[in-house]
Parts: sequence; C-alpha cells; structure tokens
Amino acid sequence: MRIVVLTGAGISAESGVPTFRDAGGLWEGHRVDDVATPEGFERDPDLVQRFYDARRHAAAAALPNPAHEALARLEQRLGDELLLVTQNVDDLHERAGSTRVVHMHGELAAALCASCGARSAVPADLAEWPPCPVCGERMLRPDVVWFGEMPYELDRIEAALAACELFVAIGTSGAVYPAAGFVWTATEHGARTLELNLETSEVSSLFDEVRLGAASVVVSAWVDEMLAATA
Ligand code: APR
Repeated sequence: MRIVVLTGAGISAESGVPTFRDAGGLWEGHRVDDVATPEGFERDPDLVQRFYDARRHAAAAALPNPAHEALARLEQRLGDELLLVTQNVDDLHERAGSTRVVHMHGELAAALCASCGARSAVPADLAEWPPCPVCGERMLRPDVVWFGEMPYELDRIEAALAACELFVAIGTSGAVYPAAGFVWTATEHGARTLELNLETSEVSSLFDEVRLGAASVVVSAWVDEMLAATA
C-alpha cells in the first residue's frame, strides 16, 4: 500500500523538542517575524543565527522517541511504498532509522551559502560566521525554509500525494500551508486520510479518521496495526 506520512513538531515533543504553537512553544518566546523570515535575518542576522544555533544544540541533545522508531519500522517493511515528509528541521527521524525523509522546511544540520548557494553540513555555530566550505565566504545561513520562502521538494510531495492510497498526518496543527493542504490533495485523488495528534488540529474535520493521543502511543499502535495487516 502506498502511504504518505506528514509529520510536524508534535512527533518530536516527547523527545523534548519544543513545538511552535503549544503553550510554552517556540512562538511564545520569539516573534516569528524576527527569527523565521528573510526580513528578520536581514534586520538582525546575529539574533537569527543564535536562535537556530540554540535549536540545533537542543535537537542534537534530544533522542528519537517511540513514534520516530515506529515510522522507521514501517519504512523497513514498506520500503519505497512509504514516503515520510516532515516539516521538522531536527534529524530525529533519521536517527531513529528512517532513510526516505523529505525535509520540506529544511534542516538545522544544513547551512545555505548566501554567496554561492551551496548547501553544506553546518561547520560550526553559524553565529561565528564560519567560512562556506565551498566558496569560503562567511555568509552561511540556516538551511531552513522561512515564512515567505518556498518549501523544498513540493513537486515530489504533490506527486506522492496524488498516487498514495493512505495519507497520515502526525503531530501537526494544520496552521501552516502548503502542508496543511496536503490532506485535500490526497482526498481529491481518492486516498484515505488519517490524523494522529494530541488534540484536534485546524484541519481535523478534513480527515476520514482522527485518533487523539500522544504520538509515542498512537503512532506506535497504528504502525503495529499496519505491520500486522501487511505481514
Ligand atoms: N503527540 C502528538 N501530537 C502532539 C504532541 C504529542 N506528544 N504534542 C503536541 N502535539 C501536537 C499539537 O497538538 C499540535 O497540533 O502537535 C502539533 C504542533 O503544532 P505546531 O506547534 O503548530 O507545529 P507544526 O504543525 O509542526 O508547525 C508547522 O509552522 O512555524 C512553522 O515551520 C514551522 O514547521 C513548522 C510549521
């Protein structure tokens, strides 16, 4: 069965990585305009570098939780019939063993050179303005998609949504497009849709089925069901 899974910050919450819009979330302590827009970077690049350096350190200290591990088990069984799209910029899916992961909002571990456009592994805290490994210019920024910028690999994601039989959204509030609209695309192409979330999201009403609970519980249970059904 061809499945597309979309994950959001909620799947990493139990690993201790803060979400954005929950109480105490990242958008409580920081203004989105200041740290997640090109204009904010233009205005105060050092503030933005420090914000992402801190998130990179926090994500590196976090560990994958049973929800990440369950999705890695599902990929082991389904192979390229499963596409995992994440809005998250942490690498917890990879560290849990997932290999086919599309980071549509970029990755904390990657840097983008504003001079030559090269993408590279972050060589050091970007607040130190390290040289780009390719061109040597000291103009590296986080390779994270900011508001107003185009998410990555949308063509590949839309094609997978059009061809899948099941679309599952996990731990995402449905507050940000285009990800929040993926359920529409999947539905239009005849897929079944399932939402696994701690609370109802802004798009829960668009899903065929919604299961509420912590990701480490509901994702693991759902994957166990899928593995039993495809045994
Ligand atoms: N298990 C499952 N879901 C959870 C858990 C948990 N333990 N904890 C929180 N959630 C759910 C919340 O109920 C909420 O619906 O995860 C969702 C988190 O929503 P957001 O904080 O809005 O995160 P996300 O949906 O990933 O945000 C999308 O917004 O700011 C941008 O680029 C950023 O990628 C991010 C995008």
